[in-house]
Amino acid sequence: MNLAGKKILLGVSGGIAVYKSCELLRLLQKKGATVRVCMTDAATEFVAPLTFASLSKCPVYLKSGAVEARPFQHIDFPRWADLYLVVPATANVIGKFACGIADDPVSLCFMSCTCPRVVAPAMNVAMYNSPAVKRNLEILRGFEDTTVLESPAGELACGEVGQGRLMEPAEIVEFLEGEGSPLAAAARASSATPSSGGHPRNAPEPPAFPVAQDIDPTQDATLPGHGKKVLLTAGRTEEAIDPVRYISNRSSGKTAVALASVFYANGFEVEVVAGPMEAAFPGGVKVTRVQSARDMHDAVMSRLTSADAVVHCAAVADYRPAHAADAKIKDSRSQLTIELVPNPNILRDCTAARASRAAARQVIVGFALETDHFEEHAAEKLQKSGADALLLNAPVANDSGFGHDCVRYALVRPGVPVPEMKMGGKVDLAQEIVDFVLKELGNA
Ligand SMILES: Cc1cc2nc3c(=O)[nH]c(=O)nc-3n(C[C@H](O)[C@H](O)[C@H](O)COP(=O)(O)O)c2cc1C
Repeated sequence: MNLAGKKILLGVSGGIAVYKSCELLRLLQKKGATVRVCMTDAATEFVAPLTFASLSKCPVYLKSGAVEARPFQHIDFPRWADLYLVVPATANVIGKFACGIADDPVSLCFMSCTCPRVVAPAMNVAMYNSPAVKRNLEILRGFEDTTVLESPAGELACGEVGQGRLMEPAEIVEFLEGEGSPLAAAARASSATPSSGGHPRNAPEPPAFPVAQDIDPTQDATLPGHGKKVLLTAGRTEEAIDPVRYISNRSSGKTAVALASVFYANGFEVEVVAGPMEAAFPGGVKVTRVQSARDMHDAVMSRLTSADAVVHCAAVADYRPAHAADAKIKDSRSQLTIELVPNPNILRDCTAARASRAAARQVIVGFALETDHFEEHAAEKLQKSGADALLLNAPVANDSGFGHDCVRYALVRPGVPVPEMKMGGKVDLAQEIVDFVLKELGNA
């Protein structure tokens, strides 16, 4: 089972092995998975949430107090995930899972999630062998969609020897990639019942990248984007043919959401001009909604000067109908020709505006979606646009591109040969752009 593009919620409870879940998070990211974290209060005493927030590039879902700011966080977080991984699982949370107690983020997510759950116990040998823990683990093994990982014997952190160690992070990843992985089982089940989505669950697709409201990264002076502002374009545009019909494209807006989330997590103030799209932005990101390419053009141009960076992620229609009919075009059963005229080129107008201003450095990144002659088209578009970089991306096969979490992409820069495109998560792509912008702004 390939973990690239998988969305994994990591539940962290308060055992001495918490530091190992940081390593696990990094290993999962290296495999291309997107990881979000929720923690119990006790876990935060072992490793600060900031560590997990920095590693996951996303605020951590902390104690239920955060629910006040975002009422359905305890549902959004687990519903976002393809897999809920509780590492380490204390005797305490295992007891809660088994008994149906849900009074902290980790146990709340366990109860409300509809994806497969994997629980990795870690505790002292006497605790592990206690009748209560044995019984509770047995109960969990009987739950549908729940896997309890074997706890190896060996030397424990407390100095005693016996069963109760946390399975090593590399072994957990190996298990998730293997044939017995609950992700593999979910994929098999979903291909057997294609209408059920990523895995058998009834919930509608939740907003991507739920963000806890209790951390505001823009206030954190230690983050590299602190004091900087990025303007993003997002989604697609709709070009009216008549009052009920339009020309558009298949962009879901997921890449823009990943970008907004990663810029925000790095401390940037994020403003988005968004056309129609399905994916939702995290709280803390300012969004202005527009419909057509011309609306987007005007909204972007009026916000340009205050931005330190502009990333043109939106899939803007190159053409629009020359005239939008005032009333619905009737079906006359005869051939209909719609004359198209070019839309304004927002990227080029931004670089031209930058050139005419004697202002501080502004970094401009464009996007180029190509279906053939990738390198030539990207190099040509970059040169004509005057941008500092172009994110070349290609929709391929059934599991990447539009509406998916994976994409084939390369960051193209002037004067440098076009790199070979690689497959990665949209969060990885976003991270590469954020790193580039930071470097160009001199903050990296
Ligand atoms: C230094 C220290 C290490 C601990 N290690 C573990 C552990 O490995 N496993 C465990 O189940 N409890 C461990 N505990 C006890 C838990 O922290 C305690 O039961 C806590 O209430 C768990 O809360 P949580 O399940 O909400 O995270 C440890 C406590 C301390 C002080």
